[in-house]
Amino acid sequence: MSAIVGQRDAGVLFRFKDRLPVTDATPMITLGEGSTPLVRSVRLEEAVGCEALYFKLESCNPSGSFKDRGMVVAVAKALERGDTAVLCASTGNTSASAAAYAARCHLRVYVIVPHGNIAEGKLAQAVAHGARIIAIDGGFDDALRLAREITQRHPIALVNSVNPHRIEGQKTASFEIVDDLGDAPDILCLPVGNAGNITAYWKGFVESYQREEATKKPLMWGFQAAGAAPIVAGEPVAEPRTLATAIRIGNPASWEGATNARDESGGDIRAVTDDEIVDAYRRLAQEEGIFCEPASAACVAGLLGRAKDGEDLAGKTIVCVITGNGLKDPERAMAEFAPELHAIAPEVSRVEAEMGL
Ligand code: F0G
Repeated sequence: MSAIVGQRDAGVLFRFKDRLPVTDATPMITLGEGSTPLVRSVRLEEAVGCEALYFKLESCNPSGSFKDRGMVVAVAKALERGDTAVLCASTGNTSASAAAYAARCHLRVYVIVPHGNIAEGKLAQAVAHGARIIAIDGGFDDALRLAREITQRHPIALVNSVNPHRIEGQKTASFEIVDDLGDAPDILCLPVGNAGNITAYWKGFVESYQREEATKKPLMWGFQAAGAAPIVAGEPVAEPRTLATAIRIGNPASWEGATNARDESGGDIRAVTDDEIVDAYRRLAQEEGIFCEPASAACVAGLLGRAKDGEDLAGKTIVCVITGNGLKDPERAMAEFAPELHAIAPEVSRVEAEMGL
């Protein structure tokens, strides 16, 4: 595959065109999304006690999150239909991705976000790409309700994962995992918010199995933040709370997709506390060299928790999906890790003393 991006032979639409709703009329747009690294764990694998633990670094996508896979398909199909504007509700990453692809394709882009609950890096991305930002005094669930209603009233394409093209694009991550491992893993761990991603991964693994590219399908292990765990509770959460703002969602749109993935795979969806999320966030950064956002760490927190509870994972190949880049939420990183910084004189002896030498 060419490393030059912007030509027709790169990205998710090109690589997986035979498994996506691509027609002769579909514009083969790309920002170089997909083909992300599957990185083997160097430390946490032992703590988990499995045969092999991998991280699928979706944080390496062009806008820094997994959303680009589905967004490139949704935006291409919007262009194919002749749409001139797109809209999404978002906790941040969807808006950053929509804004990037819309800018590239000269579409107008509107994003509805929960005021005060979107990480700074994500907002910066949407602003930089020229999105019209509508901040609401409400949560993601309100934003999505508004986005649905407005796109019904106006000729604007809705690019949330309720748009089936988003799910189609996102499923390609499963194909890559199967390609890289030579088979499906035994277990796939991922964070669950609006539940589009777990729905999409499961669709992808089922298709790989049907195409006989994989001999098995993984157990789908999803993890929600304890203060925002409607699927675990079995009912919507009116006021979801978690420091992992990306998954601060009380009534996921793809609820049924998530429970289907869980039940058909024989998997599970559990809750992890914010403390567990922060602990995994720290361990990923400091023991694996992987800087992700807190929501992404939720799945590693969940896996570590299950191992600690005595779950026997010997012989298992496990993949954790690292959904978003840590740079998106610099405030959280500073809050968790930053020591008090004080400036010292630029002298060797002072620097040595500071270094403990
Ligand atoms: N991880 C990150 C970093 C996310 O941004 C999201 C969702 C998820 C996990 C959960 O994925 O919603 O498919 O279950 N972010 C959405 C957004 C809601 O607006 O960016 P999901």
